[in-house]
Amino acid sequence: MSAEKIVFTSRQIETRVGELGRRISADYAGRELLVVGVLTGAFIFTADLVRVLDLDLSVDFIRVSSYGHATSSSGEISLVKDLDSEIGNREVLLVEDIVDSGRTLACLRRHLLERRPASLKVCALLDKRERREVEVEIDYLGFRVARGFLVGYGLDYAGRYRQRPEILELVRTTEDTSG
Ligand code: IMP
Ligand code: MG
Repeated sequence: MSAEKIVFTSRQIETRVGELGRRISADYAGRELLVVGVLTGAFIFTADLVRVLDLDLSVDFIRVSSYGHATSSSGEISLVKDLDSEIGNREVLLVEDIVDSGRTLACLRRHLLERRPASLKVCALLDKRERREVEVEIDYLGFRVARGFLVGYGLDYAGRYRQRPEILELVRTTEDTSG
């Protein structure tokens, strides 16, 4: 069994998303934005973020899968669902749930840059810096966290917890001897 510890309340998340929204709206003022959410983890963050952006924008989603364990990625990613839109010459904001090793984000950036967008920036809800293996720039960051496996607000563990309104850390209890 795992215990759950609240790391960020829905109130804290809402406040932070509002702040990010104001910064992004100011930075892109007068320009048209394509917001690209990374499925599935960023679906709630993307939905909340676009509703606080005071901009003309479109939304699209991309899905990648990484060949890894349940709690870490191996860095080899494959494209499971591509964008529906063309991104050439457009201002693109990639929205990720969490950056851990950095491999997923680095791969996605490389992949999208090949299509020559006018600009490509990254907005990530969470940054687990201490675990970084590949340097990637995050232009707009929600929260920095030291460690731990986080769920809720779109993030899952084995498909569960995505619907929880807060961000939780799963803490292993002593009886847990599996995996
Ligand atoms: P990276 O490639 O190691 O940076 O891993 C990034 C991806 O792994 C994220 O998009 C998440 O899907 C997943 N991930 C990494 N850490 C966590 C976590 O604490 N909770 C849930 N998913 C995570
Ligand atoms: Mg993800």
